[in-house]
Amino acid sequence: MRILFATSEARPLIKTGGLADVSGALPAALRKIGLDCRLLLPGYPAVLAGIDNAEPVCNLSGLPGGITATLLQAPMPDNGVPLYILVAPELFQREGGPYQDVAGHDHPDNALRFAVFSKAAAILASDGDSPLAWRPQLLHCNDWQTGLAPAYLRLAGQTTPSLMTVHNLAYQGIFPPADLATVELPPESFSMEGVEYYGNLSFLKAGLYYADRLTTVSPTYAEEIRQPALGMGMQGLLAARGDDLVGILNGIDSGEWNPSSDRHLPCKFSARALAGKKQCKLKLQQDLNLEPGKETPLFGIIARLAQQKGLDLILAIADGILHRGGQIALLGTGEKMLEAAFRELGASHPGRVAAVIGYDEGLSHRIEAASDLFLMPSRFEPCGLNQLYSLSYGTVPIVHATGGLRDTVEDGVTGFVFHEPTPHALWLAVERALRAHADPKMWQRMMRAGMKRDFSWEKSAREYESLYRGLVA
Ligand code: ADP
Ligand code: GLC
Repeated sequence: MRILFATSEARPLIKTGGLADVSGALPAALRKIGLDCRLLLPGYPAVLAGIDNAEPVCNLSGLPGGITATLLQAPMPDNGVPLYILVAPELFQREGGPYQDVAGHDHPDNALRFAVFSKAAAILASDGDSPLAWRPQLLHCNDWQTGLAPAYLRLAGQTTPSLMTVHNLAYQGIFPPADLATVELPPESFSMEGVEYYGNLSFLKAGLYYADRLTTVSPTYAEEIRQPALGMGMQGLLAARGDDLVGILNGIDSGEWNPSSDRHLPCKFSARALAGKKQCKLKLQQDLNLEPGKETPLFGIIARLAQQKGLDLILAIADGILHRGGQIALLGTGEKMLEAAFRELGASHPGRVAAVIGYDEGLSHRIEAASDLFLMPSRFEPCGLNQLYSLSYGTVPIVHATGGLRDTVEDGVTGFVFHEPTPHALWLAVERALRAHADPKMWQRMMRAGMKRDFSWEKSAREYESLYRGLVA
């Protein structure tokens, strides 16, 4: 079965969040079980710089704004998944990140950029129109950046099925109504039964409306987004789509995240041989100027510093953690207010709190390995990957019972789960965790229980496969 997997980020080439981890791993897992899955990515500078042996395969026209693009083909680094790269220099080869300029402002032409990307995906999946010999039987879209693709397919009368995966309903690709002309959609599509969303154009809504099937990244989130509290205004449409929406849990790329082979760690360890974990901790304490202490409970935090992640709850109880003898190691970037608050926390508690404001893949692995506990009090979390990395690194997660966190952490067995997103509820969970940590036997049992859970991609890949088969047949 031939699948085109269209995504705006994929590690190791380009990453802003978990979408890149998923796009870097799921296509390879699908190929492993026998599917011909290929990736489509925009030709950002980092993508072009990160590949070898790229070959031009065809030109693409018929794109919005009269843009013409070239399609390159190359193997993905690391796993060799066939990758198509949409090269349109005036849209994708510029400074800054995939969505924002260096100053952190959205690129002003994002509507055109991702309309072109979506249209290219639709053309490659179309009967008759595609200049590419390889013809996918299904188009798998991810998040708002590819949300217009199912609309283009459907409105052109194409019958190739499409699947839309929502990694985070909070990012909706909203643009003023005037951009309907920019993206070259017909005026009649601008309605409730189409791409219109509270008077604006929403790329995500387009995908949710026109795709044949919808998935999100955990079963609980698939239920939550049908309700007003987490539906972000899309709950009506999502509830109406009924069984068309299912949750499939993300997995872990075990080549990247495995404590017994992780190239970023000073010492390796496993459920059977845990000693190396303490060494990782001592080394991290040294590197981050934390007081050395093998038994000191070390709390790790790695996150985009965004509202979603509930970091204000951590700030509210940080003093309590420190009073109880804990240490905190945080790695993150994002909202300036949160960056400043964590910098301040670090500055006022030298030796006890290390706040690294920045993006650092190696350090993220070292914090996962070194920490005893991992804090993830997200207000909502479609799936979440860091709690999975924590579980497999013997780092006991403390999580809010939402989305994928609820589906992957078992209270009292592999971690600690609290039910209200309040500082008090988080604090009660932290207290329970500290009590457990003080009992070495019990703690090792919890660490091992988490490390033994299977979050490999194979199981999820099989679920996607069976969805694909239902659509292609
Ligand atoms: P989200 O996609 O909402 O950001 P996930 O938990 O799904 O949340 O995935 C986040 C991914 O980004 C993880 O791989 C995490 O380790 C990584 N990450 C987040 N912030 C940083 C950072 N500052 N440095 C390195 N990696 C980070
Ligand atoms: C999103 C979500 C996160 C999920 C990731 C990958 O960024 O916020 O929960 O794990 O996508 O699906």
